[in-house]
Amino acid sequence: MTTKTLLCVAMGDLSSLDTLEGVIQGWDICKTGSLTGAAKLLRARHVSVALLILNSEDRAVPEIDAFLREHGHVQWVAVCQPLVLQHERYRQLVAEHCCDFHTWPVDGQRLRHTLGHAHGLATLHRAPRPVPAVSARLVGRAPATRRLLDQTARVAPVRAPVLIWGESGTGKELVAQAVHEQSPYADGPFVPINCGAIAPGLVQSELFGYEKGAFTGANQSHPGLLESANGGTIFLDEIGDLPLSMQANLLRFLQEKSLMRVGGTRAVPVDARVIAASHVDLEKAVANGSFRQDLYYRLNVLTISVPPLRERKEDLEMLAAHFFERYAAERSPRLQGYSSAAHGAMRQHDWPGNVRELINRIRRALVMAEGRLVQPSDLGLAEASNGSAGCVPLDGVRVRAERQAIEVGLRNGKSVTRVAEELGISRMTLYRLMAKHGIDVPSRSRAK
Ligand SMILES: Nc1ncnc2c1ncn2[C@@H]1O[C@H](COP(=O)(O)OP(=O)(O)OP(=O)(O)O)[C@@H](O)[C@H]1O
Ligand SMILES: [Mg+2]
Repeated sequence: MTTKTLLCVAMGDLSSLDTLEGVIQGWDICKTGSLTGAAKLLRARHVSVALLILNSEDRAVPEIDAFLREHGHVQWVAVCQPLVLQHERYRQLVAEHCCDFHTWPVDGQRLRHTLGHAHGLATLHRAPRPVPAVSARLVGRAPATRRLLDQTARVAPVRAPVLIWGESGTGKELVAQAVHEQSPYADGPFVPINCGAIAPGLVQSELFGYEKGAFTGANQSHPGLLESANGGTIFLDEIGDLPLSMQANLLRFLQEKSLMRVGGTRAVPVDARVIAASHVDLEKAVANGSFRQDLYYRLNVLTISVPPLRERKEDLEMLAAHFFERYAAERSPRLQGYSSAAHGAMRQHDWPGNVRELINRIRRALVMAEGRLVQPSDLGLAEASNGSAGCVPLDGVRVRAERQAIEVGLRNGKSVTRVAEELGISRMTLYRLMAKHGIDVPSRSRAK
């Protein structure tokens, strides 16, 4: 007894189905000559594989396209007259919506094989997806990424502090985790602390803990985040945001490898590896007095610089595939991957928000894409120009122009204040943009 149902949509020409019926075995076949009939059958029966027979090119392609889009959960197999495939719009229709296609005269054995494969695909798409484990695996093979992995492996076994620098979203926390996992502290906890996210009044007690009765509401003793990292790694994220008053306490902790809880009277020893990260240039912060120089020197023993994504675009394809799988549970089951236009658009974009921006664009695309392949528009990117059309994505142009304008201004030896005025932005905004583009203040511009 057969349980698999095969829907055959012949678009007004049911006679060609007789030939097919002879070669298809093991399927319960239901046929129709119209899209309306097909829609009815799809509502009434459980169909996961269907044949779309395209024998003449005078059919309304947009109508068929909309219908296939609506029924994207079905594995469609096209059977076409060779003449039909000479038309670009039909070729696109088949490429976009069908998992395979055949031309007349149909090879029965290959068709049976295709249907079996389509049935397997449909079953796979229905299977519950395993929740991917969070992993500190850094994806990428670009030369800049290889250097990063190499640096990570080199600093990991050493117990000295590590300072990780990189633009927002480049993967600093992932690098810190990778260092931890390859270090002698790997069996201990990895405790990330976002220095900018703790309310200033709570930093002391959050980091160092407190003893019972230390302040109103301290009903019992509580170890702080630093103490909880004993035997493992403390990851001080956005260290540049740590209030100045707290920097002295942190320095003492780094020097003495012990801490005093708020309201405590005895030093608590803590053996933990310290990794700090910043997206702002700490040297500048030292220069403008917002970061202690002695703490900077203490932390800046081993440095890792995480390159921006625009400097390792060779990684894009691999990262995109990685996130396609990582967020599989959020995507529509009919989505098969990225179109080559999408890959082209990704290569052309400058990625000011780095890997985090890539993730955000991909997650949105996985939800919004209507076809079987992710298109540039699903990613919110313009189609890559081939050089002849003279049209390039605006985001990339804007980022390049921004960087160039700042570099040109500073190259002429003008002060930061003057360059900011000429660009029509505040000094703070200029500093932020310089940090984003990794531009240092030239010494000639610094003193003015
Ligand atoms: N090479 C990579 N391979 C796989 N995932 C990556 C890679 N780089 C970054 N990611 C992912 O990108 C996201 C952002 O990375 P992460 O939080 O480490 O960046 P960050 O530099 O700390 O950013 P921010 O400065 O905004 O805090 C995370 O989800 C991380 O897992
Ligand atoms: Mg981070």
